Amino acid sequence: MIRINEHFLKLQASYLFSDIAKRVAAFQQAHPERSIIKLGIGDVTHALPPACVAAFHRAIDEMADDATFRGYGPEQGYPFLREKIAETDFQSRGADIAADEIFVSDGSKCDTGNIQEIFSTGARIAIPDPVYPVYLDTNVMAGRTEKNRNGRYDGIVYMEGTAENGFVPELPREPVDLIYLCYPNNPTGATIDKAGLARWVDWARDHRALILFDAAYEAFVRDDGLPKSIFEIEGAREVAIEFRSFSKTAGFTGTRCAFTVVPKSLMAWDADGKAHSVHALWQRRQSTKFNGVSYPVQQAAAAVYTAEGRTQTTALINAYLENAALIRMKMQELGYACVGGENSPYIWINGKKNSWAFFDELLEKAGVVCTPGAGFGTCGENYIRISAFNSRENVQEALARIASALAG
Ligand code: MLT
Repeated sequence: MIRINEHFLKLQASYLFSDIAKRVAAFQQAHPERSIIKLGIGDVTHALPPACVAAFHRAIDEMADDATFRGYGPEQGYPFLREKIAETDFQSRGADIAADEIFVSDGSKCDTGNIQEIFSTGARIAIPDPVYPVYLDTNVMAGRTEKNRNGRYDGIVYMEGTAENGFVPELPREPVDLIYLCYPNNPTGATIDKAGLARWVDWARDHRALILFDAAYEAFVRDDGLPKSIFEIEGAREVAIEFRSFSKTAGFTGTRCAFTVVPKSLMAWDADGKAHSVHALWQRRQSTKFNGVSYPVQQAAAAVYTAEGRTQTTALINAYLENAALIRMKMQELGYACVGGENSPYIWINGKKNSWAFFDELLEKAGVVCTPGAGFGTCGENYIRISAFNSRENVQEALARIASALAG
């Protein structure tokens, strides 16, 4: 008799964004005449930058000719892309990262979800609350938790983000081995400065812990005082892995390209206390389970680093940041305390009521989709997240509708 992995039974019935999509679809079916504006899932709406599109086309033409056709590529990504990433995203900012420490992939969701496989099932995990659900769910699937009780899993150390700490959790007070951090933060939009991040790096060094640093939203950082990479912090090469994505940087949510940085100096230990290279483990895992990102997609991603690509992606992100500023301003004007929306595409709003009730109210009265904060953890209760990923017209229309719905 084939048995299931019973750890899956501990999960919530469905993934947060699938759940929301179902509710929105049901509402639309019941009210086909209503126009709905989606500011829920952080999915980009603007077209790919022209420099990426041109590179994509050129690469497709190469694939159409026997002389330039390519089959399997290197699992870790083509050198032309890894070298550009290392130079531009890291070395130019004083972060000592080499091209062969970069693993190109098809998304940060997969990488942040898969990375836990290379660590002990007994590893003690510290996860922020609120949090991007992938970090938590993948550890539940792997059997690192007990049952969910009142919205929390026994076996996880939750690091609480609250209005009091500005949604930047305190350092753990108990021993943990693997720490998930995300800045600029999804879902709260909170940021961390270099001194704040240095405290985490020092803590990890002192405790032989490892930080999984999700920097998928680094392109939204406009404040020079904020780090874009954990590797800008001294000592991080010994304790951190970083996840980056072209999804939000260059509109690649549907195109799929990301990368993970695993320094060669990063070690983790076996039961006998012997040190092992985490880079070698991840390379082993990826070369077994992954066959690389398609050549045209990697060429499109490499175009982000050309002069035109940089200008175009900056303009793209500026447009979303301007939306974020409008959302934050309007919600504050309406009397709601907000975090994020600066150096981040997400605005985290204290709705002062049950977050699913606020979600329903905005959907029913304004036809606007947000994300209920409770979906990101118990500390998200009473909050909602509004995303800036949409056209200016839709954002303005959504804000006007929200203002009149909440006034009425
Ligand atoms: C979100 O809305 O939190 C993101 O779009 C999720 C993701 O990038 O997978």
